Amino acid sequence: MDGREGPLASSLRFRLSAWISATILAGAALAGVYSYVAATGDAHRLQDVQLRQIGYIISKLDAVPASPQARERAGDIDFDARIVLRFIAAEGGKPVACPSRPPCFTSELVDGLQTVNAGGEQWRVYVRTNAKGIRAAVAQQAAMRDAIARADAIHTVTPLLVLAPLLALLVTIVVRVMFRPLRTLTTQLGARQEHESGELDRSALPSEVWPFVAEINRLIARTARTMARQRRFIADAAHELRSPMTAMSLQAERLAASEMSGEARTRLDALSAGIGRTRILLDQLLTLARTQEGPAGQESGGDPVSLKRAILECLEDLVPLAEAKEIDLGVVGDADPLVAGPLVDLKTLVKNLIDNAIRYTPPGGRVDVRVDTGSATGSGDGWVHLHVEDTGPGIPPAERARVFDAFYRVLGNGQIGSGLGLAITATIAARMGARITLDDTPGGAGLDVHVQFPALRSG
Ligand SMILES: Nc1ncnc2c1ncn2[C@@H]1O[C@H](COP(=O)(O)OP(=O)(O)OP(=O)(O)O)[C@@H](O)[C@H]1O
Ligand SMILES: [Mg+2]
Repeated sequence: MDGREGPLASSLRFRLSAWISATILAGAALAGVYSYVAATGDAHRLQDVQLRQIGYIISKLDAVPASPQARERAGDIDFDARIVLRFIAAEGGKPVACPSRPPCFTSELVDGLQTVNAGGEQWRVYVRTNAKGIRAAVAQQAAMRDAIARADAIHTVTPLLVLAPLLALLVTIVVRVMFRPLRTLTTQLGARQEHESGELDRSALPSEVWPFVAEINRLIARTARTMARQRRFIADAAHELRSPMTAMSLQAERLAASEMSGEARTRLDALSAGIGRTRILLDQLLTLARTQEGPAGQESGGDPVSLKRAILECLEDLVPLAEAKEIDLGVVGDADPLVAGPLVDLKTLVKNLIDNAIRYTPPGGRVDVRVDTGSATGSGDGWVHLHVEDTGPGIPPAERARVFDAFYRVLGNGQIGSGLGLAITATIAARMGARITLDDTPGGAGLDVHVQFPALRSG
């Protein structure tokens, strides 16, 4: 895995949000349907009660209004709710003429509630006969009853419909917030350096994740122990091999002083060169093991040392190499910033870079070592910049990340080396909190190795 989030469907956060939201929405939908049906039924029942009450009041009448006009006036009980009153029999059961406006109900209607068709429309009718034989029908248009009941039901369901999506949204936000500590943990893990072996902080994490973090911490500790064992083994092996190599080197020197044939001398020279290379390799291995040692978190913690001093001390050793190749080696700029030590590591870092620049630059070339402080360049960026620029072949962009791996060498440069110099440099830089980048030189030819050290203060 490369640390990025996987497909959405396999995300626990997504699944949790989706399931809870879906449950809320499904619950709200069911509750909505139930409430709608119940509210409609309640509204119809209430309308029936209303018709009954009106019918009961009407049944108290002693006489039916005599004139058709008076009956029609009495007939409009509630125009908006389409509630009407029709007399279907007068005192003693005498028939009553239909009014000019529909509906008209026949005297065959039985007492009580019923739904009937009158004039092509459905009506809900309550018929009641009083002691004097007066029969009154109180009716409401069925379509209007349904419309009123629907409006009431929608009124009841609306808060639920509005609230459910809001709740689903709230759940998504809450789940996102709940998962934030896990993202922090991922960032914390991603930002760790290889040599860091400190425990992950679990205090801000939910307790369900604690066993997981505890296992990661145990794994980190195990890995750190294994790596330390391997480093010690390499350092011990290199150390043990040094003494026999020194002895072999002395023997070869003694042998060189003896009389021997030309062929024997050629072979002895090859042997001496091999012994010399092996000794350099052992020294580099020991340096790498030393720079990798030590507890985590010591980066940037050394005493302040002068970068200029480290450069000048390295140049003392390297000037002869540059002169032998007629390379113009110089330090550019007057800045003398301080960076966090230790000096021995800083010198190793600088020396490896200048040594590479001299070795891989063809004879007659040029190597510039340049130091800039943020204030000197006017950028004030809080970093001290070291540039080692040469006029050599450079490193192809595709190889630039790999040259920091131990034993990795770009083929075809004809130089002898162990491939450990930049691995050592990168280890020291990481411990000092410095960053290294490889670029083309501004002129185009050659390599510009740029190291940024966290600035302490101007020297
Ligand atoms: N200034 C440079 N110009 C061109 N190539 C370079 C330069 N510096 C490093 N390289 C390439 O990067 C490779 C790795 O460099 P590194 O310093 O790690 O190893 P090395 O120089 O081969 O051996 P060592 O430094 O351990 O003796 C080198 O083999 C070389 O090909
Ligand atoms: Mg090197």
